[in-house]
Amino acid sequence: MLCSRYGCLYSAAANASLMKILVIGGGGREHALAWKLRQSPHAERIFCAPGNAGTAEIGENVAISASDLQALVRFAKENRVDLTVVGPDDPLAAGIVDLFAAEKLRAFGPTKSAARIEASKIFAKELMRSQKIPTAEASTFSESSEALRYCERAKFPVVIKADGLALGKGVIVAADAATARSTIDEMMNQHRFGDAGRRIVIEEFLRGTECSLHALVDGRNYLLLESARDHKRALDGDRGPNTGGMGAFSPADNWSSKLQAQFEAEIMRPLLRGLLQQGIKFRGLLYPGLIITSAGLRVLEFNCRFGDPETQALLPRIKSDLLPLLEATIDEKINTCAIEWDTRAAVTVVLASAGYPGKYETGKSISGLEEAAKVKDVQIFHAGTKHANGEIRTAGGRVLAVTALGLTIEDARRRAYDAVSRIHFENCRYRRDIALSAVAATIDKS
Ligand code: AMP
Ligand code: GLY
Repeated sequence: MLCSRYGCLYSAAANASLMKILVIGGGGREHALAWKLRQSPHAERIFCAPGNAGTAEIGENVAISASDLQALVRFAKENRVDLTVVGPDDPLAAGIVDLFAAEKLRAFGPTKSAARIEASKIFAKELMRSQKIPTAEASTFSESSEALRYCERAKFPVVIKADGLALGKGVIVAADAATARSTIDEMMNQHRFGDAGRRIVIEEFLRGTECSLHALVDGRNYLLLESARDHKRALDGDRGPNTGGMGAFSPADNWSSKLQAQFEAEIMRPLLRGLLQQGIKFRGLLYPGLIITSAGLRVLEFNCRFGDPETQALLPRIKSDLLPLLEATIDEKINTCAIEWDTRAAVTVVLASAGYPGKYETGKSISGLEEAAKVKDVQIFHAGTKHANGEIRTAGGRVLAVTALGLTIEDARRRAYDAVSRIHFENCRYRRDIALSAVAATIDKS
């Protein structure tokens, strides 16, 4: 396909002009990916496994869990899927892309060994250390006795991280030695996160504001997406427990071209060089989580997939066709591509079930979606929703992500909250301060 209109001169499958696409996952990120791919003139059919009530409206849901790798391979083979896009980290870490490749199936996302950049914080730390990539000072432990001894002389607060994937819950800020001791015990001795906490990282606590950068990486080259910011804590004013993300906005108000130059020189390029030195070709979406401290930019973590809910804020701002960009990434041609961006800002507000991120309620009837969709430049992405008895009900912790575009962040924010106010389900929870810190930012329309 050729999309010179948007500056992407990449032609992946000139003969396969119409493609069957499978999106793996069932959250807001996957609805946004399916929604964007649906707009491609080259998309014939979109399958989502398992999808949600939102993806059912734009494609065909397939009742296969994102963790049932063998069933997903079988489905892709039997249905002659041309491209599979993997949303969540778990199937990537489990090697879904390697399994697809073994069956000669095309899949967007890193291989198992490349996904370690997210799936093992120790691997990521060692790589950063070897390439002198700025990050928090850290020590790694595989014995709880050593970790406990380390805490006797540590300066608090410290950040304790389970090495492996822990559904976003494996990072604890320990304010004092007692908290550190109990966290170490829970992770390493009581196996709260199973194998993921067998080894841990203890690192210095950094102060600053966070920023998410997404890059399409084809092994050697990359194409940066615009900046975004996530709101990780459950409650207004950044209080309460960490969640998967309660809202996002793009562009980030704390990002600049100077930071971007530093990011590319000190983080992206050394990272890809370090991976290649180890024989690892990362092809997929790489999303470093950054913190801007008084001493400069630091990496908090690397993610090997699109962010959720950053994706719901970023994709509505992309004017280009996403499909050739994903294909060019797989085929190591991302250097021939560019992305045309909508200069407007995007604000995404997540609506969650009562109890989230802990135990939450489900099965609540959702009303007002049509009214909310009438607000200009609003897109409603479903996450934990399903069809039941002719209505849409809640079926997860994060239920919906409402994105609005606006000439300024303030404009986008007003629209997003207007739409949110039209949606109802029992005990609906959302933050009132998404993007509030950035309302002064205006978009340069020149
Ligand atoms: P991670 O999964 O490593 O990104 O951690 C999740 C969240 O914990 C980050 O988005 C930060 O808000 C916080 N965090 C992680 N590492 C640190 C650190 N070294 N200092 C301060 N906050 C951190
Ligand atoms: N927004 C945080 C994440 O996707 O990990």
